[in-house]
Formats: sequence, C-alpha cells, structure tokens
Amino acid sequence: MSADNKREHFGSRLAVILAMAGSAIGLGNIWRFPYMVGEHGGAAFIIVYAVATLLISLPVFIAEVVIGRRSHTNARDAFARLSHQHPFWRRVGYLSIVIPLLIVSYYSVIGGWSVEYFFKACGFSFTKMAPDAASSVFGGFVSSTWAPVLTHLLFLAASLGVVAGGVRAGIEKFSKLTLPLLFVLIVAIMVYSVTLPGEGAGVRYLLHPDWSELTPRTFAYAMGQSFFSLSLGMGAIITYGSYVSDHENILFTSAGTAVSDLLFAILAGFAVMPAVFAAGIEPSAGPGLIFQSVPFVFSKMGADVPVLSALMAIFFFVAIIVAAMTSCISLGEVLVSFLMERFGLTRVRSCLAIFLFCGALGVLCSLSFGPLSGVKVAGMTLFDIFDWLCSNVLLLVMALLAVVFTGFFLSRREVHDEFTSRGRYAFNDRVFPLVWFLIKWVAPVAVVIIFFTNFIL
Ligand code: PFF
Repeated sequence: MSADNKREHFGSRLAVILAMAGSAIGLGNIWRFPYMVGEHGGAAFIIVYAVATLLISLPVFIAEVVIGRRSHTNARDAFARLSHQHPFWRRVGYLSIVIPLLIVSYYSVIGGWSVEYFFKACGFSFTKMAPDAASSVFGGFVSSTWAPVLTHLLFLAASLGVVAGGVRAGIEKFSKLTLPLLFVLIVAIMVYSVTLPGEGAGVRYLLHPDWSELTPRTFAYAMGQSFFSLSLGMGAIITYGSYVSDHENILFTSAGTAVSDLLFAILAGFAVMPAVFAAGIEPSAGPGLIFQSVPFVFSKMGADVPVLSALMAIFFFVAIIVAAMTSCISLGEVLVSFLMERFGLTRVRSCLAIFLFCGALGVLCSLSFGPLSGVKVAGMTLFDIFDWLCSNVLLLVMALLAVVFTGFFLSRREVHDEFTSRGRYAFNDRVFPLVWFLIKWVAPVAVVIIFFTNFIL
C-alpha cells in the first residue's frame, strides 16, 4: 500500500463541510464581521461581502482544495509534489507552515480568554458585577501574568487533544458534534438579543443600507474579511482538501462551507449588535466587543432576570470557545500533517511538539498585554505584530501564491480533472470555464488590490 492510500480521509460529504466550516467559523465571524457591517454601510456591506465571497474568495477556496486533493499530502509538500520539486514552489510550501505556527500561538491566547470568561459566566460573575466594571475586569485579567497564560495553555491543549485523536476520530467527530450545537447556540442568543428592550438600534445598525459608505476601501475590507473568515492563505483548506476523497464534489463542498460561514456571520451580527445597542454602548472592533461590551450587556440585563442572563452568558462563551477551537484545530492539523509526513513523527508526538512551540510563543503574546507590554516594535506589541503580519501580509501573500500556482503552474486539464472529479459532475464541467477565469485572472488581481489598499489607504 502506498503512503497516500494509508492517509486518512473524511468519512462523508457532510463531514468535509462541517470540518471546513469549523475552520472558517471563528472569532472573525463573531467580533469582526458585525462591527465591519456597521462601520461600512450596514446591509450594503453585507451585499458587497457576499459578492466578494462568491467571485473572489470562493475561487481561491476551490484553488486551495484542488491543491490539497490533487497532492493528497500536507500543505508544505503539496506545492513541492505538484510542481515536481520546483525550487521556488518548494520554498513557498514552508510559508504555509510558518503562518499556522504564528496564528495558533496568538489565537489560542484569545481562546484562553474565552475559557476564563466561560468560568466567570458559570460563577454568575456578570450578573453580580456592576456593568461599568466590565472594561476594568477585562483589563485586569489580560494584563495579569498567570491566569491568561494558564487559560491559553488549557485552550491549546484541548484543541491539540482533538487533533491528536486523528482526522476521523478526532476532527470529524468533534466537528459533527459541535458545529450543529454552535448554530443552535447562536440562534438562541440571537432570539434573546433581538427581544431585549431597546434592541431596535442594533437591528437598524445591521440592516440599514448606506450606499454612500461604499468606497474602494470598503471593497478591500470586505474582501480581506472574507479571506480571513474562510481561512484562506493559512494552509488549512489545502490540508483539509487533502483529506477529501477523490469522488467528492469540490464545488458543492466549497460553496457549502462559504454559505455556512456567511450565514453564521450574519446570525452572529444579530446576536451581538442588538444586545450591545440595547445596553447603550458604542460597538468597538477587536476583542473588546466580546469581552467588554457583551459582559456589560449581561450584567445590565442580569439585574432584572439573573438566571436567564447568566444562562445566555454561558451559552455565549461556550459558542466562542467552540468556534475558536474548531478554527485552531484546523491549523493544528496543518502542522501535525507536516510533522508526521515530513519527519515521521507520530500524531501524538507531533501534537506535543506543537504544544511546546506554540505554547511558548503564545505565552510571550499573552505577556505582551501585561509584564511585556513595554516591549514594542514600531509601536506594536508582540501580539499586535503577529496579528498584523498574519492578517495583513502573510495570509494575502500565501493566498495569492496558491491561486497563481493553480492558475499558471497547474495545467487547465489538471484543474478541470480535479474540479469535475474526472468528469463525474456534469454541472461542474459546465461552470468550469467561469471558475477557471476567476482563478486565473480575477482572484490574483483582487488579492493584489487588497494588499496595496491595506497599505496605501
Ligand atoms: N476563519 C477563522 C476566523 O474567522 O476566525 C480564521 C482563523 C483564525 C482560522 C485562526 C484558524 C485559526 F487558527
């Protein structure tokens, strides 16, 4: 049996969509999307975002799945194998290992914060605290030394624990269990949120289409957000693509993931924003939105109905933990598959190695909110540098390379073969010329535009 035949595969189409959606649905949907909608033209932004997802992100997503499934290997070796060991593409593969290393390190710090807030919610902390204390409680926690470091390590260990279970018994099982739960939780919170007195402003914030806000910058933001949200340029989709079986319909699974991600982002918008407005506070970007504004809301509402409010707070932070874990797991798998296939480590040892490396980097990121807050480069702390470098630079470069690789280094026949599962799907065959055009010409130009817009505007 060849090494490829021994590789694991996802068990079903549903499993592929749930695992990919698990990677896509993360903190990006819960804190960034609702805020961006309000900042950039409300419903008008949602329309631009949906069109950008369909015309640009989806083709990039398909390109990454094609690279993964065609090579059936880890993200580093995929480029080497498909390019027949071309020296440039062999090096590019390493970028898809560096990016997850950095992202897992700082993302699991935020994951740790949600673990702490889950504990706080279970202890009815929000209903007991004065609403105005929400910001200082958050500031006090993140700037302390030990508590955020411990929760970061706990979160990382839990995520890697799932990865250690394997593709089928770990990742697939976990996604099948938690993704449906995530949708149920977010709908429950949304219903609670839109029935709060004074919620109207939040609903209007999300639904009012302000066309005058649509500037070139808005388009660039919408595309950038859509890329991050679909986990593009991180090696995750290439790796999960490598576990998709040869007869699976790539178009269906990719579109299914993109639609679930968009739907979840909109639901999260309606869960978070009306509550924020009902409490009479200004929405803000970044972790502040969920770790300061939302506890404020729960504590304010908790004065009248403490049990319901505490329950909703627990639901909310469970949802955040699960969303962050499924994303972190997908990047953990990028690293594990690399270590296993390149260095012959076992899955468990690979997870241990990642825990030690990303755990240590994450500790530094966590401390950059407290004891190391004075250590800055160009005015940015270590955490800010990781986040900025990954979201604004590396991720876009990697997505561009993946799409250029598919459009210019793989042949049209190879991509067609993969996209139609060797002629199995007639509909895919019919839309292929359009998809090929989007991959080859539209997506690369769009990524270059987002990249420069981030720097120039
Ligand atoms: N798609 C994820 C999100 O929207 O949060 C992005 C992501 C971040 C994926 C961190 C994986 C990860 F570890």
